[in-house]
This record gives sequence, structure tokens and C-alpha cells, in this order.
Amino acid sequence: MMCHSRHPSSLPIPVLALALLVTMGSTASALDDGLARTPPMGWNSWNALRLDINEDLVREVADVMVEKGLKDVGYEYLVIDDGWQIARAEDGAIVVNEEKFPSGIKALADYVHSRGLKLGIYSDAGALTCGGFPGSLGHEYQDARTYAAWGIDYLKYDWCHSGNQSAPDSYALMRDALSEAGRPIVLSICEWGTSRPWLWARDVGHLWRTTFDIRPCWDCGEQTHSKNVLIENFIGFTKILDLQVDLEPYAGPGHWNDPDMLEVGNGELTYEENRAHFSLWCLLAAPLMLGNDIRDMTPEVHAILTNAEAIAVNQDPLGRQGRKVRDDGDLEVWSKELADGSRAVVLFNRSEEEKDISFAWPEIGLPQSLSLKVRDLWRHEDVGAFEGSYSARVPSHGVAMLTVR
Ligand code: GLA
Repeated sequence: MMCHSRHPSSLPIPVLALALLVTMGSTASALDDGLARTPPMGWNSWNALRLDINEDLVREVADVMVEKGLKDVGYEYLVIDDGWQIARAEDGAIVVNEEKFPSGIKALADYVHSRGLKLGIYSDAGALTCGGFPGSLGHEYQDARTYAAWGIDYLKYDWCHSGNQSAPDSYALMRDALSEAGRPIVLSICEWGTSRPWLWARDVGHLWRTTFDIRPCWDCGEQTHSKNVLIENFIGFTKILDLQVDLEPYAGPGHWNDPDMLEVGNGELTYEENRAHFSLWCLLAAPLMLGNDIRDMTPEVHAILTNAEAIAVNQDPLGRQGRKVRDDGDLEVWSKELADGSRAVVLFNRSEEEKDISFAWPEIGLPQSLSLKVRDLWRHEDVGAFEGSYSARVPSHGVAMLTVR
């Protein structure tokens, strides 16, 4: 099925051996490539706009990322999700939907770069994308070269219509294709956690989805399989959160668990729920891909998405994924070790009423005897020094987000 051959048999043996050595060398260090040393941050068209995308939108979003201060706090990649492609030409080249993108992707990349941002694009390891447009199967090297020629910086690579393909092999093939194309491109693996990519993807992609698609709701949907066939594939953010437990050891600089893009500002999420979703994604060291229509957001949503103190927790250079350290039913304590030895803490109240949540220093890995300074990252104030433990009043479906140092 695959038309690409990495080591054409027409080459003489010494050349083949050399090519093999070079390939092996580059593959072994493929993802120690300086990209995504902290979780990637940006905006993606899918959650808010689905297939309703075009080049004017991309330019407007680039402008808004700069003008509304999103770029300044770290949002960098502007990713065009499914629906930019339409067909394959006779020579196999991917054909851009000209009605939506009449100037072509290269011109858009130039524009996005001129605004100091990076451009991402979407394809699929199978024959078709999830939206039914041409996927990259059999065209991996050709597509990678096209993306590099256009100036693409990030590829989200999906898993629809992949039949019996092996996920590790399919994604490694695109990794090698991107590497050969010679442009630094972040590889975002989107196979929904089906084959437990945290076990194999560390040297293949820079991030990998751990679940099916997020929905802008508190706890809607179910993630269920039957014999590897998807039954229901959309889940609310608290259900996604629950599926991140125990994945902490697999994340680190250059290789991140991806609990899917943000739904802050979308659907039925309340102010407290939006703040909880964002705080927890920051604590998880999740990629922060904005999923709302940033051209039209409320001041509250803007304030959540640009909370530089919460973002600093997400982007902390140690690159630890935070973990749940206590679960009292509806009341949870999550903690993330930071590079300076301090901890970020999220107190999460899933109940229907305001509640006090307390924790002791040993629960977040610090000695009981210390007097520690607590800072509230949503109130933006130091709340004082405390001996041994701390307690905060937390709204229903809300959080307190703190640093303890
Ligand atoms: C899948 C992915 C989504 C999105 C759509 C596009 O569902 O998981 O994030 O990219 O495909 O069709």
C-alpha cells in the first residue's frame, strides 16, 4: 500500500549502508531536536470553527494573537486543522482548497511568520482525514517536503481511516519524512490514546493525544471502545482529566502527554469551570492550544487565557507533569514540582457547593516543619507564610491555584 521506499534498491551497497547509518543516527536523536522543550502553546481552528476555515480567518487570528497579547504570554503556533486540503494532483501532490485558501499556504505561512508566529497544519496517517479529505498514507515523504517548502512549523497528524496500520510505524514514518525534509517541524501525534502512545511515542513525536476528543462541557460523554471500535468519542474536561492519572512519568521536555486542546470560552462551560479547566491543563504540563474563537471572546475568557502566572506553571523548565496527590471524592489536590523546588498546587472542587480544601506540606513532597509562602495565582497576591498546611475556600466546580515556596 505504501508507495514510499526509504532505501531504494537501485542504490549501490556502500551508499545504502551510509544512508542507513545516517537514518539511524538521525532517528535516534530525532526528537532531541530542541523543539517543544516546554509544552507547545498556540491556537487551533478545530474546536470553535470545525471546517469553517479560510485564509482571511487565519490572517485575522494571527493579528488577534499579536494584538490581544496572546503572543506576548507565549501562544506561538497557529494551527490550521482539518479542511484545508481537497484532492491529490496527478503527481500525488496535495491540493489546497482554493476557494478557502486562494493565495496558498506558503503565502499564509509568510504572513504568520511576519507577525512573529509559527504556522501549523493538519493531516492524517490514513488514506483520508477525519473530515474525509486526502490523508498522507503513501505520500508521507512527498507531503513532508511540501510542508517544509511552505514553511510549516507544526504538524498535527490524525488517525482516521487508518485501518490495520500500526500506529508506531505510521507515526515513525512521518517523523522520518519530516526529518528528511529538513525543516524543524513539531510532530503532534493524534491517535487518541488508542494504542497507549505514551509507551512508544517519546522518540516519535513531541506530543501525543491521550484520549478521544474534548467537548466544551463539564463531564458529558463516554469514552468507550468495543474491539478497538470507537463507540462514543467526545468527553468533557473532567473525564479527560481523570484519564491523565498515572501518565505523569511519560511527559518531559520534548515529549508531552496531550489531553487535547482547550475548550475555555466554548460551549456551556461556566466562568469557574473555564478557570478550573485552564488551571488543571497548566498543572498537567499539557500543550496549551486555544480552541475558542479568539476574535470574539469576553474579557473574562481573555483574562483566564492570559494569566501569566498560571502559564509560568505550565511552561516551567523542569517539565514535570503535575499529579493528583489527594482524592476525597469531590475534593482533589493536584501538585506539580517546579524547577526552583517549589510546588504549584491546584485545589479542585467538583461538588455542587463551595467547600474548604486543605492540604499538608508532605502531601506535596515538602517537609512538614517548614514555614512556606503561599501565593494565589488567580488573585495575584501573596497570601502569607504558613506552618505545615494550608486551606482555601473553593467555589463549586472551581479551583484555587497556588504556588508554595
Ligand atoms: C479528530 C481529531 C480532532 C480534529 C478532527 C478533524 O477528531 O481528534 O482533534 O482534528 O479529527 O477532523
